[in-house]
Amino acid sequence: MENISLIGFMGAGKTAVSQVLAHRLNRKRLSTDDLVIEKEKISIKEIFEKKGEAYFRQLEKEIVCAVTQRQGLIIDCGGGVALDSENMACLRRGGVVIYLKASVDEILRRTSGQQHRPLLNIEDPRAKVKELLFEREPFYLKSDTIINTDQKSVEDVSREILSILEQKFDFKL
Ligand code: S3P
Repeated sequence: MENISLIGFMGAGKTAVSQVLAHRLNRKRLSTDDLVIEKEKISIKEIFEKKGEAYFRQLEKEIVCAVTQRQGLIIDCGGGVALDSENMACLRRGGVVIYLKASVDEILRRTSGQQHRPLLNIEDPRAKVKELLFEREPFYLKSDTIINTDQKSVEDVSREILSILEQKFDFKL
């Protein structure tokens, strides 16, 4: 059974939507961030601070390689997973990759007040989101399908994904 992987920027709704999909489809959900935290036993913020981003990316990559050996999963990918071409190849080989797209304003609205993302935990998050989103968009677009999430609820986005899976990818839900 093919995996369903959600990629996209921080705050695009990957975690919330993956939880709804796992529930609706009665499938197991895995989060690359949770697996990193489980392995290191400290938060992502602390991993960035103590060991650096490169260390985090290496761990993240090992986790993507390992989970994509499995089948039938809903995979909630951290926002940087798609930047690595081998990660993307593994995800695509294992199933359908869905890009949850969100605008700068929407991302800022959804992430404001949260402290757990080291990349946005800075003085001028708007400038950072703009810069990173511009840099990353070409990588996210290597997905199989794109869902715009602006002004949509988790429920709306999940419903849209289920309908695309049936219509475009022939899933028998
Ligand atoms: C990151 C996104 C985060 C987490 C880490 C780095 C990124 O995951 O992996 O803070 O580079 O975009 P979410 O997209 O789930 O917030």
